[in-house]
Amino acid sequence: MANEKVLIVDDDAFMREILSEILELSHFNVIAAKDGEEALETLFHTHDFELLITDIHMPKMGGLELINRLKDSHITIPIIILTGDKDISNAIEAIKFGASSFILKDENIHETITIAAQQALEKKRLQTENNQLLKNLSRANKDLEKVVHDLTEIGKELSAKNNLSTLLEMIISNSLKITTADSAWLCLLEDGRLNFKIAHCKSLNINLIEQPGCPMGFPFTPLDLNENNIAGLIALKKVTVNVPNVYENNLFNMELIKNFDQKFGYQTKSLLAVPLLNHENDVIGVLHLFNAMNLMTGEIFPFRKRSERFAESISSQAAVAMTKLSLINDMEQLFESFVDVMATAIDEKSPVTGGHIRRVAHLTMTMADVMNEQKEGKFQHIKFNPDEMYELKMAGLMHDIGKVTTPVEIVEKGKKLQTIFDRVEFIDLRLRYIVQKTKSESHLQKIALIKQGSSTEEIIKLDEAMKNKLDELEDIRLFLVKCNEPGEFLEDEKIERLKKISQITFIDDNNQEQALLREDELMNLCIRKGSITEAERKKMQAHAAMTIKMLKQIPFTKKLAGIPHFAGAHHEFINGKGYPLGLKGDEIPLQGKLMAVTDIVEALTASDRPYKKSMPLSQVYTILRDMARKDELDHDMVELFISENVYEKYRKKYESDS
Ligand SMILES: [Fe+2]
Ligand SMILES: [Fe+2]
Repeated sequence: MANEKVLIVDDDAFMREILSEILELSHFNVIAAKDGEEALETLFHTHDFELLITDIHMPKMGGLELINRLKDSHITIPIIILTGDKDISNAIEAIKFGASSFILKDENIHETITIAAQQALEKKRLQTENNQLLKNLSRANKDLEKVVHDLTEIGKELSAKNNLSTLLEMIISNSLKITTADSAWLCLLEDGRLNFKIAHCKSLNINLIEQPGCPMGFPFTPLDLNENNIAGLIALKKVTVNVPNVYENNLFNMELIKNFDQKFGYQTKSLLAVPLLNHENDVIGVLHLFNAMNLMTGEIFPFRKRSERFAESISSQAAVAMTKLSLINDMEQLFESFVDVMATAIDEKSPVTGGHIRRVAHLTMTMADVMNEQKEGKFQHIKFNPDEMYELKMAGLMHDIGKVTTPVEIVEKGKKLQTIFDRVEFIDLRLRYIVQKTKSESHLQKIALIKQGSSTEEIIKLDEAMKNKLDELEDIRLFLVKCNEPGEFLEDEKIERLKKISQITFIDDNNQEQALLREDELMNLCIRKGSITEAERKKMQAHAAMTIKMLKQIPFTKKLAGIPHFAGAHHEFINGKGYPLGLKGDEIPLQGKLMAVTDIVEALTASDRPYKKSMPLSQVYTILRDMARKDELDHDMVELFISENVYEKYRKKYESDS
């Protein structure tokens, strides 16, 4: 036993001497004090006493007061009380104050003092040990809490990432942090092969990540899924592998790791590799961690058991996050395909407007890019983030989705008399019938005249009358064909002539009177501008309301929630005279105002309208400015479109190949 230092306090010098001798025989290092005051002074100046043995009754300061004073001074030391009283009530009081035990000053004191001293010290040792254990436990608890917190945070961070590169970076950086590894790689299982996506090495400051169309290169060439390489083995067996020293291992093929060391001048020692298992326990990749490191000394050591658990936990969270990301991507692709199919259906529905939707979407994106770049002016604060750009693009691709319900004969109506075919042919047939009938009647009259022996003059007169009639009919035919064309403006006198022509009748083979022009044909031919009637225009315009109605039925995600509002507003005018809702000014979303401009530009510049040739840009700009002046289009947006040459930028970006 060590020479524990003991302070004996007793006013009886003989007793001090006896007790000192007894304890020194048991190898205690004994110091004596004659009363409480001297003991207190000694304890204040010397802090390495292990035990205090004190009498209760002493002249200057007794044992009980000494105990209290020590307590007040925060000096903690095991205390044994000595008492010569038969009445032990004072000794019991001392124990209540904090003494460990008491012994009687009797004939057995030479035995009891040693045992009591040893027991008090043992009790103190056990208490110290216990306190240490409690401290360690508390520290371990705190460490565990921190790890749980870190892993939870990592889980949250991982699940919040919507981009694969960012997600991979986060998996690697968190794995390195939580396992104190120096280097990490990650490969993913794609089409039956393990493709390396990312590799970081802190000490070499290497940060490699696969880019689209740009693989990571040697030594990170794709691996076959077999047991010949460690990643393949882990993926197939779904096990964690912890190798203390890569170069002293004969169990696994470490060629790739050795190649890495050779290429980059690295020295791999410890390895921890874990499979990435998704919610269905399928392997989606393998995470490799290298060289567990003491961050203070830089010493490399094998990965600890707890690092295995941490790496497995991160891998599991990473796999879930990646699976989620992949499902979201699949959903987005599915959605985009659906939008694409709808756009194709509408564009294919009519060759007249074919390609309109895609061109409007592209023009809209070009304009949005230009707005994002503005450093001054009205749009300097407009910054569409990637999600908003995506939302706008989808809105562009769906802006005319309501046209699926617009009758094709209206969408395609290139001539005024057109329905599913051009009714000018009917009128032509009627005219031919009248011509034939005129000729036949004239011939019959001619025969009658000849039979009657009429003069040649009369016959010539008849021929001339017939010819005049036929010329007139031909003139009418040509006039009607011309009126059938969707011109810029039909003058009043032409409408008057049409009305007169509509009064022409003829008797058909059934002896029924028929009109040369039906009421509906007259109404269509009288269209002053373009080729559609007012009723047809309303049906055409109904596509905007239908767009809103259809899009509102789609349960868009939060980041696409604006699509119905944006797409449905592309025919609204700033002055409130647009359709379908007649929104005014700021009631129209910015994206809607933007598409109003691009929709008009596309319609004017398109070369695939039957009655319109591609309009020169200068004329398009004049129309845009005119519409802005009339408060139909947003003035600043029109000026930005023109000044930034948005149309040329669009052509360069989207139509340079065509
Ligand atoms: Fe439209
Ligand atoms: Fe449109």
